[in-house]
Amino acid sequence: MLTDGDFPLLTAWLAEPHVRKFYQKALVTLMDVASEYGPCVQGEDPTICYLAVSGTTPFAYLQCYRNADYPQWAEIIGVTDGISVDLYIGEPSFLGRGFGQAALSGFLRQVAFAHFRAESRAYISHEPGNEAALQCSVTVGFRPLQTFTENGVESILLAVGRRSLK
Ligand SMILES: CC(C)(COP(=O)(O)OP(=O)(O)OC[C@H]1O[C@@H](n2cnc3c(N)ncnc32)[C@H](O)[C@@H]1OP(=O)(O)O)[C@@H](O)C(=O)NCCC(=O)NCCS
Repeated sequence: MLTDGDFPLLTAWLAEPHVRKFYQKALVTLMDVASEYGPCVQGEDPTICYLAVSGTTPFAYLQCYRNADYPQWAEIIGVTDGISVDLYIGEPSFLGRGFGQAALSGFLRQVAFAHFRAESRAYISHEPGNEAALQCSVTVGFRPLQTFTENGVESILLAVGRRSLK
C-alpha cells in the first residue's frame, strides 16, 4: 500500500520519459504528488493505491477504483459497473521483461477484486499508440470493448471478467 514516504519516489517515476509519454504527460512536483495522492494514503479517497515490489525493490505503481464512485469518469468511458485500473512501471530497468503483466494480473487477483468484492468486471484504457500497454493488458485477459475521448485524446477501453483473468 502507498505511504506518504513514497511520494519522492513517485515524483521521480512520474518524470521518467516512458511514464510521461502516456501516463502522466505534464511534469509534476513533490507538492503536486502529495496533494494528488495524499487523500488516498489517508483513506479519504475511495481509490486504492499500491506499489508493486520485486523482492524489496519497488518497481511499479497501480491504482484501482469503482467506476460508480467517479460518475464523471463513468460517463466518459460509457460504463457504470466494475472497477478501473491504472498502472505504470516506474523503474526503467523493469520494462519489457514481463513485470507489467505479472503486476497487473497479481494486483487484480490479490488486491483489487479482493477489495471491491461485489465487482466482477475490470476496465483499463490505453491510447491506440501505446502498444506495450495494449499487449500487456491483452496478455492478462483484457479485450477491447469500445473507444472514448477524454480532453480530445482518444483511448481504447478494454475489459476483463474476474473469472477470465490469465
Ligand atoms: C504498460 C506497461 C505497464 C507494460 O509493462 P511491461 O513490463 O513493459 O510489459 P511486459 O514485459 O509485461 O509485456 C507485456 C506484453 O507486451 C509486449 N511488449 C512489451 N513492450 C512492448 C513494446 N514496446 N511494443 C510492443 N509490445 C511490447 C511484450 O512482448 C508482452 O507481450 P507477450 O506477452 O505477447 O510476450 C509498461 O510498459 C509501462 O509502465 N509503460 C508506461 C506507462 C503506461 O503506458 N501505462 C499504461 C497506460 S494506463
